[in-house]
Amino acid sequence: NKGHYEHYMQKEIHEQPESLTTTMRGRLIHRGSSKSKSVLLGGLKDHLKTIRRSRRIVFIGCGTSYNAALAARPILEELSGIPVTMEIASDLLDREGPIYREDTAVFVSQSGETADTLLALEYALDNGALCVGITNTVGSAIARNTHCGVHINAGAEIGVASTKAYTSQIVVMVMLALAIGGDTISNQTRREAIIDGLFDLPNKVREVLKLDQVMKELAKLLIAEQSLLVFGRGYNYATALEGALKVKEVALMHSEGILAGEMKHGPLALVDENLPIVVIATRDACFSKQQSVIQQLHARKGRLIVMCSKGDAATVCPNEYCRVIEVPEDVDCLQPVINVVPLQLLAYHLTVLRGFNVDQPRNLAKSVTTQ
Ligand code: UD1
Ligand code: F6R
Repeated sequence: NKGHYEHYMQKEIHEQPESLTTTMRGRLIHRGSSKSKSVLLGGLKDHLKTIRRSRRIVFIGCGTSYNAALAARPILEELSGIPVTMEIASDLLDREGPIYREDTAVFVSQSGETADTLLALEYALDNGALCVGITNTVGSAIARNTHCGVHINAGAEIGVASTKAYTSQIVVMVMLALAIGGDTISNQTRREAIIDGLFDLPNKVREVLKLDQVMKELAKLLIAEQSLLVFGRGYNYATALEGALKVKEVALMHSEGILAGEMKHGPLALVDENLPIVVIATRDACFSKQQSVIQQLHARKGRLIVMCSKGDAATVCPNEYCRVIEVPEDVDCLQPVINVVPLQLLAYHLTVLRGFNVDQPRNLAKSVTTQ
């Protein structure tokens, strides 16, 4: 049921304040007046000790689910102090990469049925790793075959392009980082800021959704383009990959997410006055580096669209031709949840304007159950 929406993708983008609320329901604890805040993931509570003792946490997934894990990686490293590595499921299988008994392998999958992710799970089970699932589908193969896990509870996702599952996956993995990290005096302020941020996240997402018209106007401008680059780094490297994935899979426009730190190692050669480039430059520890990326792209006459924190337009824009997407600011590790929304809206509007099928992009299936 699409309600008053024209497409499932549109509905699922717009219902993110609600899906995020259900993802967090019952899992964020505000203990009375003591102001003590914590996270409770029922499916993991008996396994946290084992996870904390592991030598490495390895995220395994495909497509959007992989990108969600990439977005959560920095906060998991920071709060747990455990090395976190990333594996695209098919690549792990191609290489038969090392997985050990001392590893915690986290399988991220909206459907819980993706063939490559499922085979990687069998492989990790054979190698004796503790296997944790993060899935949206109760009773799915990944939910059943993992040792433990967390349901993201985002509600059924119908559109082939994953949108609300992505943001709920990130939120669950941020909560996972809080749960594994545990309470220490030294990280208490940081933890409280993140938990406060989680409580307020649905409101911030509601606010960023107001950019719908702005993104539609931007889509009109880009309708006939052949290609769109998206530059991000740090917490928003994943946002760049995910924004580009959305544009290519539904709008059928070539798009590439680029780690801004790699700009001079090749991508800079593409820059001219025609190719549109989105640069994500919201406030976090990478902000000044992104400002210098903008300057360098501007010096090559790059056609810039800058995503920045509210109030930063004048600070980040090198000239009057630069387009801006101003988004609400949040705690650094939650900012990717905010920043992906305008890119989801852009992909959606581009698709409709270009006359393509939004909910069932050509050649794609919602759940990839074959290799
Ligand atoms: C559970 C109930 C929820 C109830 C809540 C109340 C289910 C599915 N969930 O939620 O309805 O409101 O208790 O306390 O009945 N699991 C895996 N792999 C995965 C995902 C989950 O093994 O990929 C396991 C978990 O380890 C857990 C179980 O499935 O044993 C349920 O997980 P989850 O729904 O996340 O647990 P709760 O949030 O506690
Ligand atoms: C992109 C998309 C795919 C899936 C991928 C993994 O919008 O939907 O990239 O994310 O096929 O699917 P799950 O998460 O079901 O394992």
